[in-house]
Amino acid sequence: MKPTYDPSSVIATDPFPAQGNGPARFDSTASLVGTDCTTSSSSIAIQTEDERGFGWTVRTHPVLPPRIEHAQEPKGNHIRHILHFGEPKSLRTYTPTQAALVRASGVWLWTADGRPLYDFTSGVLVANLGHYPRSWTRKWFALMGWPVASGFEHGSDHGQVGQESVTLGHSAPRPCPVPGTTEDFGFAVPLTAYNAMTTVEAEAVRALVQLLQSRPGGSRLEQVLWAASGSEAIQKALWAALAFQRDRPMILATRYGFHGKKGLAQAVTGCETDAERDPRVRFISFPMMECRDVSQRDQPFDPTPYERELQQVLHQFGRKIGTLITEPYLGGGGSFHPPKAYLQLLQNFCRENDILFILDEVQSNFGRTGSLFAFETYGLEPDIVVLGKGLGNGVPVAAAVGRADVLSALNYGDASDTYSAHPLGCAAVVATISEYLSRDVLTPMRAVSEQIERGLVALRKFPFVAAVRGEKGGMVWGVEMQDYAGRSASDWANAFVLAAYRGQGPQQPGVHLLGPLAKKVVRIAPPLIITADQAHHALQILHEGAQSLLEP
Ligand SMILES: Cc1ncc(COP(=O)(O)O)c(C=O)c1O
Repeated sequence: MKPTYDPSSVIATDPFPAQGNGPARFDSTASLVGTDCTTSSSSIAIQTEDERGFGWTVRTHPVLPPRIEHAQEPKGNHIRHILHFGEPKSLRTYTPTQAALVRASGVWLWTADGRPLYDFTSGVLVANLGHYPRSWTRKWFALMGWPVASGFEHGSDHGQVGQESVTLGHSAPRPCPVPGTTEDFGFAVPLTAYNAMTTVEAEAVRALVQLLQSRPGGSRLEQVLWAASGSEAIQKALWAALAFQRDRPMILATRYGFHGKKGLAQAVTGCETDAERDPRVRFISFPMMECRDVSQRDQPFDPTPYERELQQVLHQFGRKIGTLITEPYLGGGGSFHPPKAYLQLLQNFCRENDILFILDEVQSNFGRTGSLFAFETYGLEPDIVVLGKGLGNGVPVAAAVGRADVLSALNYGDASDTYSAHPLGCAAVVATISEYLSRDVLTPMRAVSEQIERGLVALRKFPFVAAVRGEKGGMVWGVEMQDYAGRSASDWANAFVLAAYRGQGPQQPGVHLLGPLAKKVVRIAPPLIITADQAHHALQILHEGAQSLLEP
C-alpha cells in the first residue's frame, strides 16, 4: 500500500519564503469554521502588502472572485490564498473545490494536506494511462536520455525529484488508506492539474511576481496569466486588455514585429499589407534605419516622425485606442534594437492617453538584452509584460504578467486551457528563477558579449556582410547580408549558415545557426553562459566559414 505524502517537506524546502512578513495570514473575513467549503464576500480589494504577506505588492484594484477555502486544509488554503491574489480567475474554469494537489499515482491524487482523492478527471482527460505508469515513464525517460529516478524504478517509498529526495509517509498529517495502489505506478507531482492547483504553481507565481517587482520598472506586474506558448500568452494579454476596456477595441502594434502565428498574436504581427488583417489593429513605425548597425548606437535619435505618427493615429481613432503592444527590439523582424528614447516615447504616449502598454519579452526575458528583463534595459514600466522561451529554459511555458485590475477583467475560464499553469512548466520557472538568484549569470555574460560583438563586427570585412545589429552587453545579434558577386543577400545568408554548420570538417565542431530572419539576417543567440574560450572558438569557425564562401 502506498503511504500518504507529507507535503510539509515541500513547503519546508520552498526556496522563496515570503520576504519580511512571514507566512501568509488568512483574511479573517474568509475563515471557514466547521464547514466543508465556504467563500468570502465577493470583490475583495487587496489592501496592503502586510495583509497578504506574500512579498509582492498589488497597487491596482482588481475585482477578485469570492475566495474558496476548505476546513482543515491549512496547506491547501495557503496555496489557494497565494493563487487567489497571484493569478486571475480566468486561468481556471469555475470549480468549488480548487483542489490543491501535490502528488499523483495511478488513479490517485494527494492533496496538499495529505488526503487521497480518486482522480475522476485525468487532468482534463489527459492522463489516460493513469499518473506515472512505470513502463511509460521508463520509456519517456529513456527517449529523453534521462536517468530513471529510483522512486519510479523500484517502487520505493522515496520519490526522487531532481536532486531532492522527498520522504513519503512518515509524518503525513492524517494517514488515509489508499485501496488498489500498485507498484505499477510512480509517485510524483501530477503532470496534469487542470482546474486544480499545485504547490509548485503557487511557488512559481510567488517567485515570478516577487522577481519582477524587485526589478526597476516591474512595479505594475501583479498577477500571472499562464500559457503554454508565447503566442498564447500574447493572445491572453490582449484578451485581458480588450476586456478591461470594452469600449476601446483598437490596438496599436509596432510594424514588422513578431508576436506569434495564432489568433490575436498573429493579428499584431507583421504589417498592414499581410493577408487577413484584423481591423482592430493599427500598425505604427518602429525605427529600423536608425539602428541598422551597431555603429549607429550612440547617434542622436530624432523622435519627431514617430511623435507625429502617434498624434495622427490619436487624431484618427481617439479613445478607441486602448492598447499598444511592442517588442523591445524587433526580433523575428531582423534584429533591430531601437534607441531607448523610442520605446520611452511609446510608453509616454500610452500614459498620456490612458492606453495600456504591453511589452512582449517572450524573446528578450531572462538576460538577452544584458539586464534580466528588457524593461530594465530600456527604462520602461509596462502594464503587462509577456514572458516565454527562457522563462522555462526549454520547457514549454509562457506567461502574461501584469496589472491585476487588467488581468482580472476576464471571467472564470476565459483564459483557461489544458496546459496553462502546468506543473512541469511551473517547476521549470521556479528552477529558472532559482538559478538566476543563486548565481550571477549576467556579469560574466556581459564580458563575453563584448567579445562576441567584436568578432561579429569583424565579419564586416567580408563583402557580403552588410551590417551587424545587437544589444550592447546582451546576447542577441543579427548579421545582415547583402547582394554581392551576382548572389543575393538571401543566398549569402543561407550559405553562411551552412558553412557554419559544416564547421571545421567531418567529425569536427561546427556552429548551429537558425535559418535567416527576414530572409537575409543571421541570428546569433548562444546561451548566456557561453565562456570566453567557447566564444573564441565559435567565432573562429564563423570567420573560417565566411572565408570559405569566397574561395573557389
Ligand atoms: C517576441 C516574440 N513574441 C512571441 C513569440 C511567439 O512565441 P511562441 O513561438 O512560443 O508561440 C516569439 C517567438 O519567436 C517571439 O520572438
